[in-house]
Amino acid sequence: MRGRIPDSFIDELLARVDIVDVIERRVPLKKAGREWTACCPFHNERSPSFYVSPQKQFFHCFGCGAHGSAIKFLMDYERLEFPDAIEELAQSAGLTVPYEGGRDNAPREDKTDLYGLLDDAASFYQKELGGSPEAMAYVDRRGLDAETIKRFRIGWAPAGYDGVMKALGTSDKRRQLLNEAGMVASNERGNRYDRFRERVMFPILDRRGRVIAFGGRVLTAEQSPKYLNSPETPLFHKGRELFALWQVKQANQNLTRIMVVEGYMDVIALHQAGLPIAVATLGTATTPDHAEVLFRAAPDVFFCFDGDRAGKAAAWRALESVLPRMRDGRQAFFLFLPDGEDPDTLVRKEGKDGFEKRMKEAMPLSEYFFEELARDVDITRLDGRARLAERARPLIAKFPDGAFRDLMAQELERRTGARAMLEPEKPSRPSSRNVNIQRSLVRSAITLLLAQPSMAEEVETPYSFLRLNKPGVDLLAELLDIARARPGINPALLIETFAERPEYASLQKLAQADVIGEAEMQKVEFMDALRQMQLQAVMQRREALIAKSREGVLDDAEKAELRMLFAARVVQVIAE
Ligand code: UTP
Ligand code: MN
Repeated sequence: MRGRIPDSFIDELLARVDIVDVIERRVPLKKAGREWTACCPFHNERSPSFYVSPQKQFFHCFGCGAHGSAIKFLMDYERLEFPDAIEELAQSAGLTVPYEGGRDNAPREDKTDLYGLLDDAASFYQKELGGSPEAMAYVDRRGLDAETIKRFRIGWAPAGYDGVMKALGTSDKRRQLLNEAGMVASNERGNRYDRFRERVMFPILDRRGRVIAFGGRVLTAEQSPKYLNSPETPLFHKGRELFALWQVKQANQNLTRIMVVEGYMDVIALHQAGLPIAVATLGTATTPDHAEVLFRAAPDVFFCFDGDRAGKAAAWRALESVLPRMRDGRQAFFLFLPDGEDPDTLVRKEGKDGFEKRMKEAMPLSEYFFEELARDVDITRLDGRARLAERARPLIAKFPDGAFRDLMAQELERRTGARAMLEPEKPSRPSSRNVNIQRSLVRSAITLLLAQPSMAEEVETPYSFLRLNKPGVDLLAELLDIARARPGINPALLIETFAERPEYASLQKLAQADVIGEAEMQKVEFMDALRQMQLQAVMQRREALIAKSREGVLDDAEKAELRMLFAARVVQVIAE
């Protein structure tokens, strides 16, 4: 049991790390005055509305409302849970996370024991490998050296029905965990046995190097299935994980390219041959989630497939998955191998250099895209070009808004003479972008307040955000009033005061939204949201006055007000 992370540690951690560093390592930032900016990693856009403030140690996107501390950024960007984001940050700052009293009777929320058990299983298999002459002969035949076997923690699941259950299932709790981890199977009669038997075992690690699942290969062609993977478990979601991503990250400081191949042995052979850039999906097609993980690891992603029909089909599915992730700056390449070869056989024949050469000749996504779509059409004929355009349009529309999509549209036009007919570009004036922000700011303020009504006591009156003309502002003010008038009111009671009101349902919904972070962090976020709303109110008022002044009807008081509004520096930063 991992226990609770003390607030004081979170404070210390946030004081130690610089949010600009944390984000810059993942999203290139540009300096803009006192802030740093980038195109928002959380929604598609072509001009930057994502700001990072070193003073406030917050990020904020004026386009989609994404907002928070370095911890929140890691949670959203790396899809980590709160304690894992803390672990990650702490590691980068050279700190060790202290956990307070692992309360054994508390509901088991964290998955620490499950990780521990799977790690034990990997060690068990590793030990078994040395003791099995037939398994050793197999890995030897496949050309795996000792260093590779160690790096991938390759092991052997012995014959028999309860090797793992006996060795690891030493208590009721651990037997339960073995079940949860997918290590145990059962037949119709309810008999339970080891899922993996007589298989060479490949542990699947998550992006922090923890064992979350296994793949196991039989030794001979007579047995089936050839590869058996762990089922989906609380730790293992096939559609998101990539085999060997951890080893790739360990081997490369600054990864510029990563390659997806089809099999475990392909990955391992490439790593051993000096190309530690290979990963594999786990018996599934490449999903959009995979695509995002890949591009976050490296800007250039190679997809390597067999040259046969199945390989071509898999390549096209991969292309469809990456399209929506093709932000500017990212490139995808497709590499088809000669019939009958896979990366494992090929790299053994041609070596690292031969494989590198093939990578250099890989087809860029744009080329593969048009070549494949035009495969059976005659583009010297008008109806052929029309067909190509028809096929390409819906796919081009899937690209994120950006220069790459424009170029694809131009290329379609060049090849067919037909316009790609993309939706007109959305206007990006600040006023139109702000609509979302204000709504989501108000909403997140209400959500935070519902989670911790006592925060209301610290909000100054009169409420500085009241002028913001947006749905929800009055409701927020009313909630604050009630919470202030009844100190100690709990969230449920606060919501119940609205039982007879039309807002009741939406308040209940907001109260169910996940509020993340420790109480202190939430308070910081809440106060910051209020302050942002105040700034938005100022900006809204300023825009209204400017609009009015264009008609030439500002009175003296309004002119003075406008001058004052312009003087607020931070508002200018926001508006730019
Ligand atoms: P392949 O059948 O192409 O095998 O499966 P391979 O990678 O060349 O394996 P070796 O060289 O014979 O050892 C490719 C991938 O598809 C998944 C596995 O992830 C495998 O690595 N697969 C294959 C399964 O999940 N189950 C199977 O029964 C077969
Ligand atoms: Mn193979």
